[in-house]
Amino acid sequence: MASSKFIFLAFFAITSSLCFAFDPSPLQDFCVADFTSQVFVNGFACKNPTTVTAEDFFVSGLNNRANTMNPLGVNISTASVFQVPGLNTLGLTLVRIDYAPGGVNPPHTHPRATEVIVVLEGTIYAGFVSSSPNDTLYSKVLSAGDVFVFPQSLTHFNMNYGKSNATALVAFNSQNPGTIIDANNLFGATPPINDYLLAKAFQLSKETIDELQAKTWPNPAATNITTNNVFGVN
Ligand SMILES: *[C@@H]1O[C@H](CO)[C@@H](O)[C@H](O)[C@H]1NC(C)=O
Ligand SMILES: *[C@@H]1O[C@H](CO)[C@@H](O)[C@H](O)[C@H]1NC(C)=O
Ligand SMILES: *[C@@H]1O[C@H](CO)[C@@H](O)[C@H](O)[C@H]1NC(C)=O
Ligand SMILES: *[C@@H]1O[C@H](CO)[C@@H](O)[C@H](O)[C@H]1NC(C)=O
Repeated sequence: MASSKFIFLAFFAITSSLCFAFDPSPLQDFCVADFTSQVFVNGFACKNPTTVTAEDFFVSGLNNRANTMNPLGVNISTASVFQVPGLNTLGLTLVRIDYAPGGVNPPHTHPRATEVIVVLEGTIYAGFVSSSPNDTLYSKVLSAGDVFVFPQSLTHFNMNYGKSNATALVAFNSQNPGTIIDANNLFGATPPINDYLLAKAFQLSKETIDELQAKTWPNPAATNITTNNVFGVN
């Protein structure tokens, strides 16, 4: 009896720990991020709740179209924990993506979040690829009002497929989804990844890899936690 109960509990402990691959649940009403705290916890330490105000749960400006005159033709305006400290421990981020005609949000992954996109304006080609060995592409052309999901951690992309500007709103189930842009990660790493290794991995010449590594790899969500245009830090 006791041993079967123990086995059940052990099984439950193992399987339930596997389910905790998302932002943890809050243990109080709110835990507004205190960016000045020297305490290092998973997320951010809580600001003294008696000093919390409505401003901690607020950011403005997602009605503004951001400037898309950049090499990718995409600009991402973010409301994550870094802009809305009240999101700390709540497991949510919202972003607005503006696209110029032909603008590309390049292949990337979010290590900590599933993403759901709703097109507000324009026509967007969106897709993700399942993990290896299948590597199956799931993609669609989306119009205003259409919703598409990018499962957690899978490589995905989106681009403006139309001749006019496009805009989308995106939600993530993390206060800090993180972004790994595939090309930047592989060809823009500092210090550079061994070019012989990359040449063999990509079935290209070392010269082609050196050329790729010499390029500047733009980031549509610049990593500066003091601006309104970031996914923050790792
Ligand atoms: C994104 O848009 C903002 C607001 O228009 C602008 O300040 C910023 O320079 C733009 N970033 C890029 C990479 O174009
Ligand atoms: C697209 O948006 C830009 C601002 O990013 C604006 O200057 C331009 O006029 C818009 N184009 C169209 C066709 O609305
Ligand atoms: C993945 O590929 C294997 C081998 O081709 C196949 O049996 C399996 O059905 C595929 N899975 C999915 C989800 O497509
Ligand atoms: C981040 O933004 C702040 C304030 O605008 C600026 O002082 C700082 O130089 C920026 N850092 C980087 C790495 O761009």
